[in-house]
Amino acid sequence: MTRRISELLRHGQPNELVTIKGWVRTKREQKGFSFIEVNDGSSMAGLQVVMNADLPDYESIVKRLSTGASVEVSGVLVSSLGKGQRIEVKANSVIVYGEADPETYPLQKKRHSFEFLREIGHLRSRTNTLGAVFRVRNACSMAIHQFFQEQGFIWVHTPILTASDCEGAGEMFAVTSLDLKKVPLTENQSVDYTQDFFGKPTYLTVSGQLEAEIMATAFSNVYTFGPTFRAENSNTSRHLAEFWMVEPEMAFCDLEGDMDLAEAFLKYIFSYVLEKCPEDMQFFNDRIDNSVLTTAENIIQNEFERVTYTKAVELLLKSDRPFEYPVEWGLDLQSEHERFLAEELFKKPVIVTDYPTQIKAFYMRLNEDEKTVRAMDILAPKIGEIIGGSQREERLDVLERRIQAQGLELKDYWWYLDLRRYGTVPHAGFGLGFERLVQFMTGMGNIRDVIPFPRTPLNVEF
Ligand code: 4AD
Ligand code: MG
Repeated sequence: MTRRISELLRHGQPNELVTIKGWVRTKREQKGFSFIEVNDGSSMAGLQVVMNADLPDYESIVKRLSTGASVEVSGVLVSSLGKGQRIEVKANSVIVYGEADPETYPLQKKRHSFEFLREIGHLRSRTNTLGAVFRVRNACSMAIHQFFQEQGFIWVHTPILTASDCEGAGEMFAVTSLDLKKVPLTENQSVDYTQDFFGKPTYLTVSGQLEAEIMATAFSNVYTFGPTFRAENSNTSRHLAEFWMVEPEMAFCDLEGDMDLAEAFLKYIFSYVLEKCPEDMQFFNDRIDNSVLTTAENIIQNEFERVTYTKAVELLLKSDRPFEYPVEWGLDLQSEHERFLAEELFKKPVIVTDYPTQIKAFYMRLNEDEKTVRAMDILAPKIGEIIGGSQREERLDVLERRIQAQGLELKDYWWYLDLRRYGTVPHAGFGLGFERLVQFMTGMGNIRDVIPFPRTPLNVEF
């Protein structure tokens, strides 16, 4: 039976007969024997394999082995004299599945820039850093499911194709059902793609929230975890056109409950990942950002700061910082403002609540002052907004007013309004940008490097 390398590194004992399969990271030839390090993706560290010259077909095998080649090695575990490794494999047989020509294989044993690695997105997951990122990403996903499942939340699958713009920001990709090869596009004929999913305007969803609200009115507590899309042409290190979002929605819950859940949620994910991926987290701390581990401890141990938007604006105005964008009550906070609050002023995540009505979505519950809504954003050091959420407007008449005030059509939201007609409840929820979480966790500077296949304007090849 093939053993996983991570498991062998932890539990393997001398004299055990083992088989491993993976890809060669390095090869060193000496007189009479050679070493290869084999990595199977289960951990950052590979397993060292020693091949003695008396191995059958030794010469031809060693010749075919180089960085990137795929192999199956059977042999016996022995204690290792090498630094930093407890055991190694003394090979009895080595099968080479596929060679990797060192003349052309782009991933040689040297540090490549992340920009370069993005150009070879089909190979970059084989590097130490991207390998660690995607293991941590996997652990974050598991932590998220475990957190909600332990508390009895139901995971609901919300659609990717939709007619409604949840955020009302007009950032939706239109979907067409036209057979583009057959469309008779002559010079004076144009096609209205927005009308053309079998004749009905259809888009890629920006958020599963509205459907999650439907499900919350049946199951009380639900969450979504899936891809969402934003057709904004922003080329920043924090934006993707396709990103994953986690959206819990709770019936019988107000903004306080929403914030408490979000804070407990982030703390839980950080604890889980520190426990499950200690080597990968240490690697990020050593090689990517030396505050990764202290940040994680800070998240787990300290209460998040909570301030109203009005207070946040006061604090920003009081600071002597020359911001690029203006700070004024009524304007949205820009990333530089968010980072100032979280990174410099409070030095921990900050939950900003009660934003001005006019800069937030129609579904947020109107406060008594009518000037603000029960919104909350969680701002993280180095990232800015990582979570956006709110208590929802559960009063039918107020919601109708808000929909109309935003220039939206009541008839498009008939089913959403029905939720307020039949058994309405106070309810609340939030959306976590999953890639921003992984960035925050790992210290990776660019969001394109925490998702296997980043989708940004003009980048959809593989
Ligand atoms: O603040 P947003 O737009 O909120 C919603 O979509 C709500 N419907 C969520 C809810 O209450 N259920 O997005 C939520 C989060 C942001 O805080 C951010 O972390 C992330 O999604 N996000 C993006 N991440 C990567 N690329 C983008 N273009 C993103 N836009 C938003
Ligand atoms: Mg937001």
